[in-house]
Amino acid sequence: MDRKKLTIPDFYEKKRTGDKVTMLTAYDYPMAIWLDGAGIEMVLVGDSLGMVVLGYDSTVPVTMDEMIHHCRAVRRGVKYAFVIGDMPFMSYNVSIEEAIRNAGRFMKEAGCDAVKLEGGSEMTPTVKAIVEAGIPVIAHIGLTPQTASKLGGFKAQGKDAASAQKLLDAARAFEQAGAFCVVMECIPDQLAAKITSSVGMITIGIGAGPECDGQVLVTNDMLGMFDRFTPKFVKKFINLTPEIDRAVKAYISEVKEARFPGPEHVFTISPDNLEKLT
Ligand code: KIV
Repeated sequence: MDRKKLTIPDFYEKKRTGDKVTMLTAYDYPMAIWLDGAGIEMVLVGDSLGMVVLGYDSTVPVTMDEMIHHCRAVRRGVKYAFVIGDMPFMSYNVSIEEAIRNAGRFMKEAGCDAVKLEGGSEMTPTVKAIVEAGIPVIAHIGLTPQTASKLGGFKAQGKDAASAQKLLDAARAFEQAGAFCVVMECIPDQLAAKITSSVGMITIGIGAGPECDGQVLVTNDMLGMFDRFTPKFVKKFINLTPEIDRAVKAYISEVKEARFPGPEHVFTISPDNLEKLT
């Protein structure tokens, strides 16, 4: 396959031509290599890291230093895809100066191509300031996991006319502020279609139906590697948890029964040398 590193104009071209954009999450080097090697176009180092890799109950405890550590590992594994660092809770909410400084860390320390942050139109000045500092921004609207409790839990957003209008207005405001892309999580598919046709930004859906310009899933969900809960919008393209369980149990049995390691896994010393041992 003839491939080149993807940049923002490539994604605008995909929107123009209707070529759906593919995004998945990665948190480490091997997954980055697998996704990039398979041809994924955008790799999000999501703060979902906190739940699917670090074992927190939510994304709230994730720190900037944790995000930078994982983004650097992903960056080392990705050659072609566009890498996005997810700004963790409270890294962009205290002040605009701090938001710019933290967004800059994703670029300077981790080599990301863009940052993503959650929120509604109230985040417009922050998005504008980060973009003006020279950092591409992806907005994340709808169900925003960092503030899920404020939204009444992990449930679909924009189901009545007033809240749907708010999301459409937020998307337009983010585009005005300079965001080049918006992730729309858990919103009705007709609303996602309306936003997609109303903005020039690239729209990426997760639980937002098929009319978005592209789709994202948490990789650990779509590979069946995270069993604590599975949202309705997740499709498991493979279920690795039982496969891993089978493999680990096979290893335990073979070690207990001295069937592993076999002759093909061992190293030898000549009988002469062995005899010299005292
Ligand atoms: O953190 C994450 O993985 C995300 C995706 C669910 C879009 O924000």
